[in-house]
Amino acid sequence: MHEFKSKYGPWALVAGASEGLGAAFAEELAKRGLNLVLIARRLEKLEELSNNLRDRYPIEIKYHSLDLADFAETKHFVTGLETHIGLLVYNAAYAPISYFEHISEESLIKIVDVNIKAPLLLSKLVSVKMIEKRKGGIVLMSSLAGTQGSPKIATYAASKAFNAIFAEGIWSELKKHGIDVIASCAGAITTPGYINAQNTKDAPGTLNAKKVAEKTLNALGKGPTTIPGFTNKIAQFFMGRLFSRKFAISIMDNNTKHLS
Ligand SMILES: NC(=O)c1ccc[n+]([C@@H]2O[C@H](COP(=O)([O-])OP(=O)(O)OC[C@H]3O[C@@H](n4cnc5c(N)ncnc54)[C@H](OP(=O)(O)O)[C@@H]3O)[C@@H](O)[C@H]2O)c1
Repeated sequence: MHEFKSKYGPWALVAGASEGLGAAFAEELAKRGLNLVLIARRLEKLEELSNNLRDRYPIEIKYHSLDLADFAETKHFVTGLETHIGLLVYNAAYAPISYFEHISEESLIKIVDVNIKAPLLLSKLVSVKMIEKRKGGIVLMSSLAGTQGSPKIATYAASKAFNAIFAEGIWSELKKHGIDVIASCAGAITTPGYINAQNTKDAPGTLNAKKVAEKTLNALGKGPTTIPGFTNKIAQFFMGRLFSRKFAISIMDNNTKHLS
């Protein structure tokens, strides 16, 4: 715990922190003694989470309502921070569920803005200071959906593939500066977003948000990618290495057709 704090502290920025996995990351980081900067759109949720964490952990917390799709506003906020961000956790995602032909151009652009542009540019912004300090960490949330084509969430899944591949590249580049990078390729997580979308029983290997946050942060510094949960690791072995691409896509199709 102490080592984690000295390597990735004193402040962590959690982008997409108001509920679900982002809130679980905030709690896990508070437990590890890091001060927090929390970002999401819903101010009241951030306020509630901050009060709750402050009551239980001796840390400082700043929170701010902003839309990560608006990069100018995000950049203005992050560059104006007077605190040193030693850890970035990019958790926010936009995941409209519908077939490509039915998704508007605006929605497609928003997937790119929230899931690709913002994590890319936030990684750039925070890594500049991390390079100077010769330490730090970057956690990018990816997904098992991003390891093959995923019908009904095709663009979202492709955006998650971007995060995984981007994280692997900068993992290699930034380690010489003492910075750890990881992509967390999670399977299903019982977050409000997942519960709203899932119409059937939970997928095999479904984990709660606390477990995913804990396992992801424990894996930071140990390699470029982590897949939280044993069942998910096995699933990825079959989907990514044993099955043909065609067969893996058809399995995804079978799972995602129940989402709405
Ligand atoms: N849930 C799963 O089954 C699952 C599986 C694999 C991977 N993942 C990944 O895990 C991460 C979290 O998933 P989740 O299910 O917890 O997502 P979620 O329920 O949709 O919550 C995402 C968080 O991001 C914030 N957010 C979303 N859009 C934002 C925006 N434009 N600006 C600022 N904040 C924004 C939300 O807060 P506000 O609404 O208050 O802004 C919320 O706090 C995502 O990256 C997702 O791809 C999830």
